[in-house]
Parts: sequence; structure tokens; C-alpha cells
Amino acid sequence: MKTETTIQGLSASLSPARAAKKLIGFVPTMGNLHEGHLNLVREARKLCDVVVVSIFVNPIQFGPNEDFDNYPRTLDQDSKLLAEVGCDIVFAPSVEQMYGKKPRLTNISVGEITNDLCGLQRPGHFDGVAVVVTKLFNIVQPNYAFFGQKDYQQLAVIRQFVQDLNIPLEVIGVPIARAADGLALSSRNGYLSEEQRQTAPVIFQTLKQAEQQLQQKTSLDEVLVNIKAALTQAGLVVDYVEARTPELQKTSEFNQDLVLFVAAKLGKTRLIDNLQVKFTA
Ligand code: PAF
Repeated sequence: MKTETTIQGLSASLSPARAAKKLIGFVPTMGNLHEGHLNLVREARKLCDVVVVSIFVNPIQFGPNEDFDNYPRTLDQDSKLLAEVGCDIVFAPSVEQMYGKKPRLTNISVGEITNDLCGLQRPGHFDGVAVVVTKLFNIVQPNYAFFGQKDYQQLAVIRQFVQDLNIPLEVIGVPIARAADGLALSSRNGYLSEEQRQTAPVIFQTLKQAEQQLQQKTSLDEVLVNIKAALTQAGLVVDYVEARTPELQKTSEFNQDLVLFVAAKLGKTRLIDNLQVKFTA
């Protein structure tokens, strides 16, 4: 496995694969890798000849009071894990390498779907994601790019601008990786104290109960209230509990396919999760 830290170095490393028309798979990450990321790499490995993983903590997707400075940077450990799952090239650029010295004047705003859910709590976040992912796509020029469904809204935003801007690649969404107790894997889980870690699976348990209630025809409003109450009782501070259609449209219907979304704080750690609820006619 090679590690490249410059755009030029990465291009040189990829040029034989490009010349041989090999399929390039790309997994963008911010590092501090866990099984969820490694699953993305495994999926890329299945489909592609060459797998590139980027590790870049992107400053422009963090708000002023968010955890950019403290975000865990664990390149050595990440590189070891990536080598074990068959990554070919790690791209780990500096902020200067990605953004240069001149001010950036271009932004990418994806519109309505970013002014909802996490976008409401984190203004500018999805613009920052859209800019960095577009830059990374232009740098790596992959055939396939892999993203986790845990960040469901992020995946929808990426699919949208890839379509709108005719970016020539296919986006693949990979199901959420969970710990044995149901907690969705996230780099931020590492911030949880032991006691908070014991509490955190309540998010998934509550979502599963909500799924059952919906299938037993409890109204959507009542189900959302129940989720909120259960999380609050467990000691979480709820940012939002919402239901959307799989295309992220608002809905109050409950006999159709839905996605339930939760964002809640446990202490200082903000956790998100979602569950796709399917209805068979
Ligand atoms: O999901 C993430 O880790 C980040 O938002 C991404 C897609 C790597 C962009 O910085």
C-alpha cells in the first residue's frame, strides 16, 4: 500500500491504472477509521481493481463551535487497518495541499435538501462537504465512490450534486455498520465515557421499537413523540427526531417507506442514526 500526500504524487501513482483502464474505487474519509469505514473499503475492493482511501479532516465542513481541532487524527493506526483490508493507495493531504494559499471563492450549495435535518443544526456543513468531495472526485477521478448510509443526508447531497454537475462516477451507498449492541459505528463514539457508551445503544433500540409501532399502524406523530421521550428519559438531549421519505421529502403518512432520523447529544457528543422502515403492501 502506498501513501501519497500531494495531488501530483497521487496522480503519478494512479496513472498506470488509468492507462490500463482499470476500475478505480474511492472511499473518502476523515480518518480515525472503524469497521464502518473498513466495510466501505471491502465493498470497493469487491467492485474495483484499485482502491484509494482519502484521509482528510476537512476544516470547511466544521462550524465554529464544532470539534475540528480535537477531531481524532490517527494516520498510523488508520494506515495499518487499511493495509489489512486491501487498500492500494492512501491519500492524506494537508489543508494547504487541498485548499492552496489563495482564498477559495467558489462554493457548492445543494439547495433544499441541505436546509433540513443536520443542515438546520449545522449551517454551511453540507456546502463544506460538497466542496471537498467535489475536489476529491476531481483529484482521484474514480469510477465508483463509496459512502455510508449512516450519513443518509450526506449521501443524498452527494448523489444530488454528482447528478446535477454530471460528475462521471457512480455513487454507492453502503448499509450502516453497527456494534453488537446496535450502536451505529462512528468516529465520534470514541468521545463517549464508559457510562455514555452503555447508554448510546438506546438510539437504535428506540428506532427499532418505532419501526414496530409503525408497522402496527401507530400514527407517525405519536411514534416520533415516543422516540423523543425515550431518548430524553435515557439522558440524551435531542436535536431532532424526524421522518422523511427515502428521497428526503417531508411526510406525515405512515403506511409508506420511510426513513426515521435521530440526532441527539450524549454529554458533549452529538450522535446521529437512521432507520429505513419498509412497508409491504
Ligand atoms: O463522511 C465523512 O467522513 C466526510 O463528511 C467526508 C465525506 C469524508 C467529507 O469530508
